[in-house]
Amino acid sequence: MSAPGAPTPGASSSGEPQGPEGRRPRVVLGVGGGIAAYKACELLRLFTESGHDVRVVPTREALRFVGEPTWAALSGNRVSAEVWDDVHEVPHVRIGQRADLVVVAPATADLLAKAAHGLAGDLLTSTLLTARCPVVFAPAMHTEMWEHPATRANVATLRERGSLVIEPAVGRLTGADSGRGRLPDPADIFAYCRRVLAPGAPAGSGADSGGASQGLAQDVQGQDMRGRDGHGRTALGREARAATLPGHEVPAQEIAGQGGPGQGVAPPGGEAAAPDPSAPRDGGASPDASSVRGRRDLAGRRVVVSAGGTREAIDPVRFIGNRSSGLQGYALAETAAARGAEVTLISANVTLDDPAGVKVIRVESALDMREAVLEAAAHADAVVMAAAVADFRPAVQAGSKIKKTDSVPEPIYLVKNPDILAELCDRRRDEPESMPAVIAGFAAETDDVLANGRAKLRRKGCDLLVVNQVGAGLAFGTPDNAAVVLGADGSATEIPKGPKHALADVVWDLVAARLPEPGNGGAPAS
Ligand SMILES: Cc1cc2nc3c(=O)[nH]c(=O)nc-3n(C[C@H](O)[C@H](O)[C@H](O)COP(=O)(O)O)c2cc1C
Repeated sequence: MSAPGAPTPGASSSGEPQGPEGRRPRVVLGVGGGIAAYKACELLRLFTESGHDVRVVPTREALRFVGEPTWAALSGNRVSAEVWDDVHEVPHVRIGQRADLVVVAPATADLLAKAAHGLAGDLLTSTLLTARCPVVFAPAMHTEMWEHPATRANVATLRERGSLVIEPAVGRLTGADSGRGRLPDPADIFAYCRRVLAPGAPAGSGADSGGASQGLAQDVQGQDMRGRDGHGRTALGREARAATLPGHEVPAQEIAGQGGPGQGVAPPGGEAAAPDPSAPRDGGASPDASSVRGRRDLAGRRVVVSAGGTREAIDPVRFIGNRSSGLQGYALAETAAARGAEVTLISANVTLDDPAGVKVIRVESALDMREAVLEAAAHADAVVMAAAVADFRPAVQAGSKIKKTDSVPEPIYLVKNPDILAELCDRRRDEPESMPAVIAGFAAETDDVLANGRAKLRRKGCDLLVVNQVGAGLAFGTPDNAAVVLGADGSATEIPKGPKHALADVVWDLVAARLPEPGNGGAPAS
């Protein structure tokens, strides 16, 4: 996760974040009347100290928790909960129109309900109706309130309309209670918002550009950025995708040395043909810079990502493991969440912080991983298996620690682990309606990278296989990665060396293009 306080992606040479027209990004911080309102002060500080222009819009109830002078002093801007102040400036319309991002933290159950139903009885709810920029809700409430069918329905409605609703964290709640419903750490909310604010998308402001009345904006590459609350979802079309991909999807035979599907070609960054220079790419940009701001083409989609490396127990203290850090899988989960997906991350032995807005399920062994993935996949639109799952496990696991003796230890016999990716694909063949429309896997190879990748793609029966070469500063435990994504349709998309978040964005572009349009009877979105 990005460091709090670091400059926003798209920062100027001075390090200041840049919004549209080179100005500071305008953030509206909506604050609901929950006990966690005081934590919004920390979020506000993170935004202001990293150069954002923040307008705090608390609700009347929020002001019972933290007063107006605190918000005004910390933001340096006027603060009101009412539509009746400064009426000559028409704040109930202008604040939303001019915003580049609206983030509501904490979002109470009451506020989520009002937003879902389009009520506009105060300045914040009016702002939510007039904003044409990305809207992020960070809910916080007691578990019972969060799990109530009314709240679930309100959250589903908001997500359906393109709003980003972060999953609350698990932990201590008001009073002695604990459970799911805690406001995520302000630093995590901030990092999430920075990804949503990353450059490349239009100014959220309709007031300046006239875009507000259209409710539709075009990013620099001409991508349809509609999909914000109340304006329907966006599916990234193939034409738009071709223009916006950081990676470059080319017919397999366009890659040097490649005679077509099934034949070996040069590894990425090696002898592969130079990517089309006209295709926009990340080229060493910061991880966050890879996301098109406000792109929410995965809104309303459920995705499952696996990350990390499994551990296969030898005895209670020893295991067979691998070098996977989980960085790539976590980047995939963060990126999908920032693009609006409801993400379940199955995490094997990873020490990274839980990404904000992502449901994390922790597992240890390949068998645990299989169980968790199969269960989550049954409700998902797409699965991306980035975890390094052990192929083998000890046939017998000692019940107590194997003692060191003078004699040679007993050999450890291995048995095969289930092939989770292949099993997912097999199940989909048998019951296509209840299984994910898109299944993607990863292959880490040390030699004959693409030849092995193609063979694996055919063997597993998945739609996409992200093939990367291990070593040379890539793959395990490093911030960078490079890959070729092989498609079952014979395509090959080269992703040059760059941040793992950039690679993740390309993978989601490829997944999104293969997802059926909702209610489209299985036809792909593009
Ligand atoms: C001490 C206290 C703490 C509260 N904390 C929360 C909370 O964390 N989440 C929530 O949804 N409601 C909470 N409530 C209830 C809200 O304050 C109440 O629903 C209010 O109408 C929400 O106002 P809003 O729509 O302006 O956010 C709390 C109430 C009290 C008195």
